[in-house]
Amino acid sequence: MKAPAITPGQTLGILGGGQLGKMIAIEARRMGYRVLVLDPDTACPAAEVAEIVQGAWSDPTAALELAIGCDVVTLETEHVPYAVLAEVERVRPLRPSAQVLKTIQDRFNQRHFLHRHDLPQTRWANIESLAALDAAVAELGVPAILKRRTGGYDGRAQARLYAPMDAAAAWQALGEAPCIFEAFVDFAAELSVVLARSTHGEIRFFATAENIHQNGILHTTVAPARFSPPIRAAAEDLATRAAVALEIVGVLTVEFFLTRDGRLLINELAPRVHNSGHVTLGACVTSQFEQQLRAVCGLPLGSQHQHAPAAMVNLLGELWAKGAPNFVAVLAEPRAHLHLYGKREARPGRKMGHITVLAEDADEALAVAQRLHAQLAAQARV
Ligand SMILES: Nc1ncnc2c1ncn2[C@@H]1O[C@H](COP(=O)(O)OP(=O)(O)O)[C@@H](O)[C@H]1O
Ligand SMILES: [Mg+2]
Repeated sequence: MKAPAITPGQTLGILGGGQLGKMIAIEARRMGYRVLVLDPDTACPAAEVAEIVQGAWSDPTAALELAIGCDVVTLETEHVPYAVLAEVERVRPLRPSAQVLKTIQDRFNQRHFLHRHDLPQTRWANIESLAALDAAVAELGVPAILKRRTGGYDGRAQARLYAPMDAAAAWQALGEAPCIFEAFVDFAAELSVVLARSTHGEIRFFATAENIHQNGILHTTVAPARFSPPIRAAAEDLATRAAVALEIVGVLTVEFFLTRDGRLLINELAPRVHNSGHVTLGACVTSQFEQQLRAVCGLPLGSQHQHAPAAMVNLLGELWAKGAPNFVAVLAEPRAHLHLYGKREARPGRKMGHITVLAEDADEALAVAQRLHAQLAAQARV
């Protein structure tokens, strides 16, 4: 028998109160839910719109306190330890499940999952010693990327190898911790599919997005991706296969490399709303954040229809180098929407906010987003 739906008036719990948790919480509050958030920082972005239970990710007592106060628990990060997730799941529905997180949060488990389900990926090796790394370099070659198996995000906990002699330095830079070694993909583009799968197994995906990264951090997203419908359909098909194999409930993001010879390789899976889905807030009938809420509450999913081509540009902490930027020029552009997360402290590389632009076509949306970003960057340099 299906569990009953969790409806407005009931309480959603979110593990993590960063910008993703905040945007889920805003949608939930708009729809009449109460929201409790677990975060180590009582002044986290979500604190503006939700009640905070203060606690570290690794603290099962705090996680249990949150869970007991909620009807269903979801998350904004894959980095909550499995043991804590299992505790939460003992007392309340956790969506996505601890099992899904176990598969995704360790890059080795994730790569193994993709392999088992015949989902395409780059060549990789599991590394637990410098000797194993030297062997992988000999077998898979360079350039390559070494990634710590757990805890990385925004390109952190990764090291690039350009020559075999880089191996020892890379191994040390990542703390001699278990890693995955990946052959470098000389990609034509990076794409992502954000989809939601409900408790009923219903799946809806947003238009395949095209992503440009700088220093391992997402810089801009354009949706729909400026690639042919067959390529986008192939990405959607692979993402759907991954979601079904995972049996995920909630939003799943699948990041892809499109190789120069037209193949799609899965770069990574994120069991959550995603930076490349931010355009959906404003561009689509239902945002990724509302879709997450609907999926985990056992409700029907909303329409993913997109009103117009859209682009998003991230606002990183370096734009705050000369103090808070003046956003008047951004707001003077009628096609742009400004999102700021309310983080008190700006650091280089820290995601402080983003701008989305809707336009007649994707090139135009991207050009406007880039122009607005360039204006803010110029201010930060003067
Ligand atoms: N094997 C690879 N080949 C080429 N570029 C890569 C590879 N792995 C990662 N990258 C680049 O680094 C970015 C961040 O890596 P990713 O594995 O997605 O880590 P994160 O969890 O930090 O997003 C990717 O979006 C891509 O631009
Ligand atoms: Mg990534």
